[in-house]
Amino acid sequence: MADPIPNYLSSTPLPPLPKLLVGQKALVTGANSGIGQAVAIAMGQAGADVVVNYVSGDDAANAVVETIKSYGVKAAAYQADVSNEDQVAAMFKRMMAEFGTIDILVANAGLQRDSAFTEMTLAQWNTVMGVNLTGQFLCAREAVREFERRGIVPSVSRAAGKIICMSSVHEIIPWGGHVNYASSKGGMRMFMQSLAQELAPKKIRVNSIGPGATRTPINTAAWDTQEAYDKLMTLVPYGRIGEPEDVAHSTVWLASDHADYITGQTLFIDGGMTLYPGFSTNG
Ligand code: BGC
Repeated sequence: MADPIPNYLSSTPLPPLPKLLVGQKALVTGANSGIGQAVAIAMGQAGADVVVNYVSGDDAANAVVETIKSYGVKAAAYQADVSNEDQVAAMFKRMMAEFGTIDILVANAGLQRDSAFTEMTLAQWNTVMGVNLTGQFLCAREAVREFERRGIVPSVSRAAGKIICMSSVHEIIPWGGHVNYASSKGGMRMFMQSLAQELAPKKIRVNSIGPGATRTPINTAAWDTQEAYDKLMTLVPYGRIGEPEDVAHSTVWLASDHADYITGQTLFIDGGMTLYPGFSTNG
C-alpha cells in the first residue's frame, strides 16, 4: 500500500510508557488492528494483563497477543462480535474464568459503512449502530456488573472500574455521507455521559476518547496518496495525521489513577480538528 507520508514516530520515537496499570486487567474490543491494536499493546506496556477482542483475523489478533506478552504480562485473544449479546456474555464469562476480573474496558470496536443518505441501506445503518453503539452498551453492561460485584481493590486502583468509549471527532462534527457513523458517535456521547452520571457514586469512571484523522485501515483513502493527505491537512491545524500511538498513550493515562478525578469527559485527540480550522481565515 502506498504510504507517502512517513510516520513521525519512526524518526522521533516516544519515550517508553510508565507502568501506570500494573496489576490491572483490561479488555480492548476490536484490538486486532488500528487504534484498538495500539491501545491493547500500550496497556500491556503499562503493565496491564490484556484481553484482545476481535471478530475476524486470528493471525493479527495472535500477533498482538505475542507483542503484549513480550512485556511480561498476560494476554489472550478472544473472538466475539460485540453487537451479539450471547457472544459478549460468553467473552466476559471467559475473561472472569481466565483473568479473574476486569478493571478497564476499552470499548473500541467500530466500523464505517459509508453511503449517500438516499442510497443508505437499513443493513448499513443497523451494522454501524449494532457495533458502534449497541456494542458499547453490551460490553459496558457486563463490565459494570463485575465492577459492582467486586468493588474497589485499593492496591489495584482508586476506582471500582474504568470504561473508555472509543468515540470520534464526529460525536460533535457533523459528517455528510456518513450519517449512520456520525449518529452512532453522537449517540455514544450521550451514552457515555449518562452512564458516567449514573455510576460516579459507585466510583466507576466513564469517559470517551475522540480521535480525529488517525492512520488506520478505517480511513486509508483519506491518507494513502499525497493528494488525499494534503486535502486532509486542510482539516488538521497541527499539520500531521494522528498515529494510533497518539491515541493509545492517552488512553492508558485516562484509564490510570493519574486521571482518577475525570469522569464524563471526551478527550479529543485530533491535532485541532475540532477547532473549526475553516474559520481561521474566514467568517
Ligand atoms: C473516522 C475516520 C475519519 C476521522 C476524521 C474518524 O472517526 O473513522 O474515517 O478520518 O474520524 O474525520
